[in-house]
Amino acid sequence: MAIQRTFSIIKPDATKRNLTGKIAAKFEEAGLRIVASKRIQLTLAQAQAFYGVHAERPFFGELCEFMISEPIVVQVLEGEDAIAKNREVMGATNPADAADGTIRKEFALSIGENSVHGSDAPETAAEEIAFFFSGLELVG
Ligand code: CMP
Repeated sequence: MAIQRTFSIIKPDATKRNLTGKIAAKFEEAGLRIVASKRIQLTLAQAQAFYGVHAERPFFGELCEFMISEPIVVQVLEGEDAIAKNREVMGATNPADAADGTIRKEFALSIGENSVHGSDAPETAAEEIAFFFSGLELVG
């Protein structure tokens, strides 16, 4: 598997509890390099656009309100098989199903307040990185 880039969000429940460093350490310990990182606060329109694929889901409103409730940290992670590796480090979407040692098992509060987001495929990784970062912000 080649070197890939993936997109990550450290969500409001985690930034609020000062878990940014602990979560970043999990990525680095897994061999993922943080090649871009910034702390931002989303507007409602930005959250709705980012999660547009979920617009018809019953939890869409709650999800967008949560994502604008506190600052988030958006990051680009790089490494061997980065998309799958990041999903492994994050653990299952619902922390009740997440494996021991994963970010969601250790830190997530619920399926909604689940501490991190990560891209699920190469196409979405490229789209999500481009949504938040310009080429100039992406160092090697
Ligand atoms: P994420 O990887 O950011 O992608 C979509 C998010 O929707 C997901 O993580 C969850 O946080 C959230 N989500 C999924 N299912 C539910 C649910 N049943 N209730 C609330 N939020 C959910």
